[in-house]
Amino acid sequence: MALVNTKEMFKKAYEGGYAIGAFNVNNMEIIQGIVDACKELNSPVILQVSGSARKYARHAYLYSMVKTAAEETGLPIALHLDHGSSFELCKECIDGGFTSVMIDGSHLDYEENVALTKKVVEYAHAHGVTVEGELGQLAGVEDEVSVEADKAQYTDPDQVLDFVTRTGVDSLAIAIGTSHGAFKFKPGQNPQLRFDILQEVMNRLPGFPIVLHGASSVMQEYVATVNQYGGQMADAIGIPEDMLREAAKMAVCKINVDSDLRLALTAGIRKHLAENPTHFDPRQYLGDGRENITAVVKHKIENILGSADRA
Ligand code: G3H
Ligand code: 13P
Ligand code: ZN
Repeated sequence: MALVNTKEMFKKAYEGGYAIGAFNVNNMEIIQGIVDACKELNSPVILQVSGSARKYARHAYLYSMVKTAAEETGLPIALHLDHGSSFELCKECIDGGFTSVMIDGSHLDYEENVALTKKVVEYAHAHGVTVEGELGQLAGVEDEVSVEADKAQYTDPDQVLDFVTRTGVDSLAIAIGTSHGAFKFKPGQNPQLRFDILQEVMNRLPGFPIVLHGASSVMQEYVATVNQYGGQMADAIGIPEDMLREAAKMAVCKINVDSDLRLALTAGIRKHLAENPTHFDPRQYLGDGRENITAVVKHKIENILGSADRA
């Protein structure tokens, strides 16, 4: 099957009360680990590439591998630009075969965000590509975006209808208390998502697909393995799974996961090398990392997303 955009996927997800997993990819093992799980569970999926992942692995390599994954599995797979930082980057990805892009103007003032997002939507839609916009600011750190916890801002529900109408975006990322990275809450802090804001957004945008960034649950079994074999990730805390499950049943149609994949891959590699100190063939330790990725994605599909048998 050819790569698809997110239009149909999100329509079905909204109507079916489930969400599509959007997993960040940087290399072959991560891509294969994810699609092996999706194939086994017959699930649609979004494979997303950040600006820095694209620099690291290079556009053509990632594009070819993801295209191959769609052809080989026959699953609906969208190739998405995560946190697009400019019109030019979005255009390069659209011209280079991506089927979906995010333009992240969430750090701009409102009118600037509207203008930039609208410009990307006009170009993307002319090429059959869907667009995700963002309103509100998550806390946390990615390579190219760093937001202090005290500068993070929940999405204002009073802005969403105007933003979606004026920009023409196909989905909207909102800030309701999730954050990027593996350290989302302080130890002892009671993790809370603002479901009241999500409900207000749904009231203003009936039927419209919402996106949750920073939605890793930071699976403790992998944190424990990383720590057991020399890592120092104590106090890594994510979003409770029951909250993500609840969000997936509501308007949230796309749930972004990167940190959980990083942890699972690292846990597999650390454990393998600690238990097999003479091994130096990358296929051996990366193979274990890839198996962990498959296990994480299966777990997400079955316990959070509800996207099994929806391909
Ligand atoms: O939300 C962003 C992703 O976790 C990507 O992070 O920019 O380090 O690739 P990155
Ligand atoms: P996590 O850091 O929670 O995995 O979030 C990833 C993300 O939002 C990618 O855009
Ligand atoms: Zn994100």
